[in-house]
Amino acid sequence: MAFVTEEFRVKAEKICAKYPKRDAALIPLLQELQKESGYVAEEAMDELARFLDLPYSRVKAVVTFYTMFNREPAGKYHLQVCRNISCHMAGAPGLLARLRSKLGITEGETTRDGLFTLSAVECLGACGAAPVMQVNDEYFEKLDESKLDALLEDLKHGKYPLKG
Ligand code: FES
Repeated sequence: MAFVTEEFRVKAEKICAKYPKRDAALIPLLQELQKESGYVAEEAMDELARFLDLPYSRVKAVVTFYTMFNREPAGKYHLQVCRNISCHMAGAPGLLARLRSKLGITEGETTRDGLFTLSAVECLGACGAAPVMQVNDEYFEKLDESKLDALLEDLKHGKYPLKG
């Protein structure tokens, strides 16, 4: 399966044009690939490296470094709980434990019905509203267990986006 399709190339050239050097568009292009496929496959990294004329190792290093990139197909809802200090102090470990127990999966796994993928991620940049969880593109702040339970119920019933 080709990831860097003709259609993608057209879009990618427009994105590259916004930057002084093509390789500066690496992260936005990875985000674009992920938006289209839900994850960034090994082949996609290879194709993008060739498209940008970069070493594959550089693309792979970026994908591996940033937790926002999925290297495997994620569930319909990707639950990303911040594990950095502010969120940790505000109860993130309890939220993660609750999610593990309610969903029957651990970090990096997807439920068998394909609905939820769970991840613990680095700071989401909303420390003042800790603890924070990102679900796909939406942030949920100042979470506690009851808010988390209600959120999961909403998602199970297909209510997403929840704030839109
Ligand atoms: S520490 Fe959680 S958002 Fe920054």
